[in-house]
Amino acid sequence: MWRIKNIVLVFIALWVLLDSSSSSVSASVTYDGKSLIINGQRRILISGSIHYPRSTPEMWPDLIQKAKNGGLDVIQTYVFWSGHEPSPGKYNFEGRYDLVNFLKLIQQAGLYAHLRIGPYVCAEWNFGGFPVWLKYIPGIEFRTDNEPFKDAMQKFTEKIVQLMKSENLFQSQGGPIILSQIENEYGPIEWEIGAPGKAYTKWFSQMALGLNTGVPWVMCKQETAPDPFIDTCNGFYCENFKPNKANKPKMFTENWTGWYTAFGGPVPYRPVEDLAYSVARFIQNNGSFVNYYMYHGGTNFGRTSAGMFIATSYDYDAPLDEYGLIREPKWSHLRNMHKAIKQAEPALISAYPTVSWPGKNLEVHVFQSKTACAAFLANYNPDTSATVTFWNKPYSLPAWSVSILPDCKTEVFNTAKVVSKSGEAKMVPASDVSFSWQSYVEQTVSADDGDTLAMKGLREQINLTRDSSDYLWYLTNVNISPDEGFLKNKQNPQLTIMSAGHAIHVFINGKVSGTVYGSLENTRVTFSDSVNLVAGINKISLLSVTVGLPNVGLHFERNNTGILGPVTLKGLNEGTRDLTQQQWSYKVGLKGESLSLDTVNGASSVEWIEGSLLAQKQPLTWYKATFDEPTGNDPLAFDMKTMGKGEIWVNGQSIGRHWPANIASGNCGDCNYAGIFTDHKCGRYCGESSQRWYHVPRGWLKSTGNLVVVLEEWGGDPTGISLVRRQL
Ligand code: GAL
Repeated sequence: MWRIKNIVLVFIALWVLLDSSSSSVSASVTYDGKSLIINGQRRILISGSIHYPRSTPEMWPDLIQKAKNGGLDVIQTYVFWSGHEPSPGKYNFEGRYDLVNFLKLIQQAGLYAHLRIGPYVCAEWNFGGFPVWLKYIPGIEFRTDNEPFKDAMQKFTEKIVQLMKSENLFQSQGGPIILSQIENEYGPIEWEIGAPGKAYTKWFSQMALGLNTGVPWVMCKQETAPDPFIDTCNGFYCENFKPNKANKPKMFTENWTGWYTAFGGPVPYRPVEDLAYSVARFIQNNGSFVNYYMYHGGTNFGRTSAGMFIATSYDYDAPLDEYGLIREPKWSHLRNMHKAIKQAEPALISAYPTVSWPGKNLEVHVFQSKTACAAFLANYNPDTSATVTFWNKPYSLPAWSVSILPDCKTEVFNTAKVVSKSGEAKMVPASDVSFSWQSYVEQTVSADDGDTLAMKGLREQINLTRDSSDYLWYLTNVNISPDEGFLKNKQNPQLTIMSAGHAIHVFINGKVSGTVYGSLENTRVTFSDSVNLVAGINKISLLSVTVGLPNVGLHFERNNTGILGPVTLKGLNEGTRDLTQQQWSYKVGLKGESLSLDTVNGASSVEWIEGSLLAQKQPLTWYKATFDEPTGNDPLAFDMKTMGKGEIWVNGQSIGRHWPANIASGNCGDCNYAGIFTDHKCGRYCGESSQRWYHVPRGWLKSTGNLVVVLEEWGGDPTGISLVRRQL
């Protein structure tokens, strides 16, 4: 009996020892109504979004270090399914998609990570992050209680979680990931579709929990988040947000630091006074986690941008600009605020605020415990400054501002008192680089060409391209009798083409006859113009162009693109001829794309023209040149001011779509930081190109002999292209 008792005791002792030793290496993340608790320590956390494929691995260490120096504790990123699984079961975790390396760099810098797996991400990313092949799984419906979709989502989510676990990247394994996210802003969709939405939420919650990551999960913008998921807030302001349970911390997963640029729109910016005000109000109202979306926005390389008409630059007016340079005064002003919040942290984590109202639009929040005290004094009036007396001391508060007193006595920061230096980065010509361009003009395709696909009627574009290219040729022939009255009276007939998007170049008998394009607000386009037709067969060649696939909205996978008709010809003897139902032929992509003209090998497959014969202002023209890397470390860009629309490649890597000919219109008037901010409130560059400069990552360059290839759809003057350095 005695022996058995002793063996049991020894066993228990060993178990306790083992258990405590394992808990000393394995960390834990929990939460309560106050904050996240990391290894037993409550934390007020400042986070920032950096999306790894929107920069290059060479840029990552510097971006992460600058984020750390700016006072961030956490880096937040989505996971980009379309980049990781470009075709079913073929995974890619290399280069810009080396997620593991990105997370390890975050860990090496001593920061935490928030991994938003989604896998739906929105994010102005093509198809919201979904690979386009997903749409073609039979019977699939996105983001609802649909078996094929759920199977695919589970497979990818598991793949990512397994990868993270195999690299010990969760905090529960000693890694940097303290939080994950499943889905993205599903609340509004669930509300709209009802029962299947609820069933889907239940399913993905259980699926995610079953993955046992050992760290909490969040669902953003989804009040229905079941326990233990934390529902979180996205927006420009979230001070009045309340999680759906009192035991969940109040978290701001997307505080938009600016907004994205659309081709055709101004470049949005958000004054730092207002951004800081939004953060301070959130923290004073018991918020304990704020993420800047974006802290570094970066670039939509290749054809990754979406939401339609989203520019290649995803600068976002973030504290780190597209090129990774510090944006002032934004970066420093926020860093100063983060210091103040850190000083206040002992009080913030040990007490709930008591609130008083010393006057209209004035509010005082005090966090006081036995050991610490911090106060926030706020003036919500957008028009006038105010003086607030707190603990017998007067504090002056500019309009629309919050002061932080980390010890309840000293104002160390006010959101509207910007002391940091400002200064805009400049684009300085890299005078050591010049280009000697060569051109190659593509012939227009016609319905009679051999390698086209003939079908009756008009077809949806993505069903044919599977998004392998922005371009789809719609080709048909129109027979004009010599008796047609218009041939004599010289009244050309009118061709009308209705398209679901996004742009059309119209060629008649091989000659360009016009171009139309939509916008972010209205992606549909109509071409309606008189066209020059001759007696006999006329070749109608319509190049339909997409500018990114949708990324948001109920069942965006059902969205149709391309020339769906009607297509009519008016002004003939018979009146109007409907071409919609006649035979059309199709060809996916441009010839230059199929020849891979963007690569060194491909480029040698055609004859290029140079010197005085260089093609200029001609549509469907490819240009190439070689250049040596400029000295130094300044980030580089192409100034494309004399070009129209197309795509640019450097050494075979696409730096994105260019469209400097799309001129910004919108609101570029005065912009006062005070008062409610909206995405349209503050804009720049109206009347100029929405995007003139295109980032050329240094990581893609060799010291000599770099190949640049430009596809120009519209017609441009390549001799005006220059390479510039971005300098502070
Ligand atoms: C949010 C979304 C983000 C991004 C943002 C706008 O609603 O969650 O992914 O699209 O809007 O930039």
